[in-house]
Amino acid sequence: MKRKSIISGFSKLSREEKLAALTGSADKIKSQLDSFRLQDKEQQDLLDEISENTLSNFYLPFGVAPNFVINKQLYHIPMVIEESSVIAAASRSAKFWANHGGFQARVVSVVKSGQVHFLWKGEKDRLIDLLPELKYELYRATKELTRNMRQRGGGIQNIRLVDLSNEMDHYYQLHVDFDTVDSMGANFINSCLEQMAQTMKKFFRYYKELKEIERDCEIIMSILSNYTPDCLVECWVECDIAELDNIEPGMSGKEFAEKFSKASKIAEIDVFRAATHNKGIFNGIDAVALATGNDFRAIEANGHVWASKSGKYKSLTQASISRNRFKYKLTIPLSLGTVGGLTSLHPLAKFGLELLGKPSAKELMMITATAGLANNFGALRSLVTTGIQYGHMKMHLSNLLNALKADYEEKKQALEYFAHKTVSYSEVESFIKSIRTKLR
Ligand code: MEV
Repeated sequence: MKRKSIISGFSKLSREEKLAALTGSADKIKSQLDSFRLQDKEQQDLLDEISENTLSNFYLPFGVAPNFVINKQLYHIPMVIEESSVIAAASRSAKFWANHGGFQARVVSVVKSGQVHFLWKGEKDRLIDLLPELKYELYRATKELTRNMRQRGGGIQNIRLVDLSNEMDHYYQLHVDFDTVDSMGANFINSCLEQMAQTMKKFFRYYKELKEIERDCEIIMSILSNYTPDCLVECWVECDIAELDNIEPGMSGKEFAEKFSKASKIAEIDVFRAATHNKGIFNGIDAVALATGNDFRAIEANGHVWASKSGKYKSLTQASISRNRFKYKLTIPLSLGTVGGLTSLHPLAKFGLELLGKPSAKELMMITATAGLANNFGALRSLVTTGIQYGHMKMHLSNLLNALKADYEEKKQALEYFAHKTVSYSEVESFIKSIRTKLR
């Protein structure tokens, strides 16, 4: 690898030149990176153009967690994830709940929002008086931009003024609500907001009866918010406690439900546990987001703010036991799209959505939340019974065997040997060493 130095004009270099600039004439690295590129030039060009300065493709496993029953409908859910045991845990929960009433899900609301952040030095009351006229101009100025969205049943839903001048001198926001129907809508929202910012600036500059100080509206920025508390979905499972009997051998349903509920409650009480608990939810949610071409960073940011809405970071789920019924529920804001963006551009995201029967954004919200709940249920189920490492390390065994460069025969023997034993790196390593020594 070359010693690092500033490379000017990097983006203008060809792929070969970029590689040479980064690695010198390291042919081995180049052929390795080439081997991960697609044979089909058209498809490779498409992937290259999704991002910038592309050198190769980074593969992640695209898998399926089958047999999810959600609102009485069957789904086989595509998941893209690097962590072994996430798909296994989701599938195990799906199978369990398919036999116990399935998952229920409901979209509570679908409003997304964005803000124009601005400074205005006039009197607040004057701003409030001007608002109706300003709003009229804002709707008028964005009419063309919103035409298609309005035809699809969405568009701008509301514009309101937010006064934050006590937090920062002269600081206000235009807080705008949108319905983006089946698209995630980031570009649509940002285009509308930038248009509004320009219109607002002109409005103040040219409005007839304003003092000089009122003519100056300083736009700081215009951008959507990734926090969408009004784009909310909830999903849950419930069953009679007796149905949980023997969920793990020798454990009564009551014992399991109570221990499970305590584990869930701990994630409401303790922030250290809450982070890990919610991470387990995002194992499922992010995997579906990736498999369907959605923005997992936006999803994560959204969920974590929601988890802190009380002023304290808490779990996104709640467990309850009432009248011998066990219920476990996830409530989360999820801003997703099933049209536009990567959803139709990335061939595998397109396939992921086809596998789900080309869902609407609302349907995808319910499916994705369910995958999150399934993963979290699976994690808690293991944590309060066998412990997490039992299943985790079993799934991780093939990674360990690959790291030890085990061949087919060695893997076969290892799988048999560890079927009922605790897996650890050192145990697997010494097992492989022992069979290699025997063969010599
Ligand atoms: C690991 O990816 C996720 C878990 O740690 C989640 C949890 O502890 O609830 C198993």
